[in-house]
Amino acid sequence: MNKDMILKAFQFRHACKEFDATKKIKDEDFEFILETARLSPSSFGFEPWHFIVVQDPSLREQLKDGAWGAKLKLDTASHFILGLTMKKSYMRYDSPYLQSFMKEVQKLPNDVIDAKSGFFKDFQLSDFNLIEEREVYDWASKQCYIALGNMMTSAALIGIDSCPIEGFNIEKTEQLLAKEFGVDMDKYGLSYMLALGYRKVDQPIKTRRELEEIVTWY
Ligand SMILES: Cc1cc2nc3c(=O)[nH]c(=O)nc-3n(C[C@H](O)[C@H](O)[C@H](O)COP(=O)(O)O)c2cc1C
Repeated sequence: MNKDMILKAFQFRHACKEFDATKKIKDEDFEFILETARLSPSSFGFEPWHFIVVQDPSLREQLKDGAWGAKLKLDTASHFILGLTMKKSYMRYDSPYLQSFMKEVQKLPNDVIDAKSGFFKDFQLSDFNLIEEREVYDWASKQCYIALGNMMTSAALIGIDSCPIEGFNIEKTEQLLAKEFGVDMDKYGLSYMLALGYRKVDQPIKTRRELEEIVTWY
């Protein structure tokens, strides 16, 4: 893979509005895309995400009610992901979840866990002022968008189209997630949706500002 091929993939990626419903992503390709989400970086390595893959047509149908920006994608995408973000009771510096995460997932010894917890406490309370529910949630959500970006890029690198979606009513859709998907909404909020598949029509011309306009050097 050289730079030209990578840039071609970035040009190829666009917000695909309608997919060819007859084309399905191969299991190994979809697993590759999910793996790039799993390997994404997160603040302190706390992985504040969960991904729900919605393939059940009746559940997709129900999502349409609150997801005005996703209707055509729900009908036509090969795979459809809901990107969930952990809430404050899980992502706060002193949460039992993070204590066990540092032990079980990060395999840190107790003294390192104590030091990291103290550092993380200062980071949340002083450096970034992450106090209120929404502040902590938005901070965690930003990290989930890194996984989103990686999934879209990795998909494009293997010729798969995608569309990131925020076109939904959060309250309505989260109510559905609680009722029909059994999601614990005390633990998670819905940050975004991601449709994946193969384009039905050619992509429009890409418009972007020039590099000089968006980069400042000193
Ligand atoms: C966070 C986010 C949310 C978006 N939500 C939607 C959406 O709900 N529906 C949609 O069709 N496109 C959505 N888009 C796609 C953008 O409109 C699109 O990326 C932008 O216009 C640039 O076009 P391009 O991605 O085709 O280059 C979203 C993009 C991002 C990054």
